[in-house]
Amino acid sequence: MSTHDEQWNAVDDYFARTLTPVDAALDAAVKASDAAGLPQIAVSGLQGKFLNLLAQLQGARRILEIGTLGGYSTIWMARALPEGGRLVSLEFDPRHAEVARGNIAVAGLADVVEVRVGAALESLAALQREGAEPFDLFFIDADKANNANYVRWALELGRPGSVIVVDNVVRGGGVVRYDDGDAGNAGTRAALEFIADEPRLDGTAVQTVGARGYDGFALARIVS
Ligand code: SAH
Ligand code: DHB
Ligand code: MG
Repeated sequence: MSTHDEQWNAVDDYFARTLTPVDAALDAAVKASDAAGLPQIAVSGLQGKFLNLLAQLQGARRILEIGTLGGYSTIWMARALPEGGRLVSLEFDPRHAEVARGNIAVAGLADVVEVRVGAALESLAALQREGAEPFDLFFIDADKANNANYVRWALELGRPGSVIVVDNVVRGGGVVRYDDGDAGNAGTRAALEFIADEPRLDGTAVQTVGARGYDGFALARIVS
């Protein structure tokens, strides 16, 4: 580990201690997810708070998450919803969905959150067939190879003013290892290039360091 990594972790520890107080439901979600053997790839607490604040700034009443895992980011975002708000989270792995539903119930959000099991591309098509009301905020955090497809679906299921967040757009710099043959990195580049080329979207990307290593978010807004 380089001195940079140590500094990044020390600063993230300080930010976390200072800005994100101990939270029983979130701590329980991490414990239950670890105990069930889920991969430790949820957003950090500080990143979860970032998503929570973004949902509040956006005044989001309907949130769509792609990639639930144990429901950690789900809980952070669902807590930002006003009375009557709703979050739908799409998860391929039924084991992950089961752990997530338990964690979401412990957080008191079972009536607000729906976890749908299945390949997200199929669940997204189902949402459209059902005539789901537009979503105000999208958090794309599943199989990175499909990132461009997920941004395209967000455009379908959103409305002018909706916000799209894509997680893990850096992956330790992998996004610019053009010839590494990694479908996730290629999918992320395709998503960023789609955002850039689509006149209905306005977007940017920011790099992050800290408890989750070297990574980043893309942020886009549906303009029309
Ligand atoms: N958003 C979570 C982390 C999600 S990890 C958090 O920060 O707390 C990515 C998740 O996407 C995993 O649970 C994985 O099973 C799921 N996933 C992978 N491929 C998928 C697909 N095609 N459709 C839906 N979910 C998928
Ligand atoms: C991985 C996936 C994520 O969504 C994440 O935030 C970090 C890592 C992964 O697949 O390794
Ligand atoms: Mg992620």
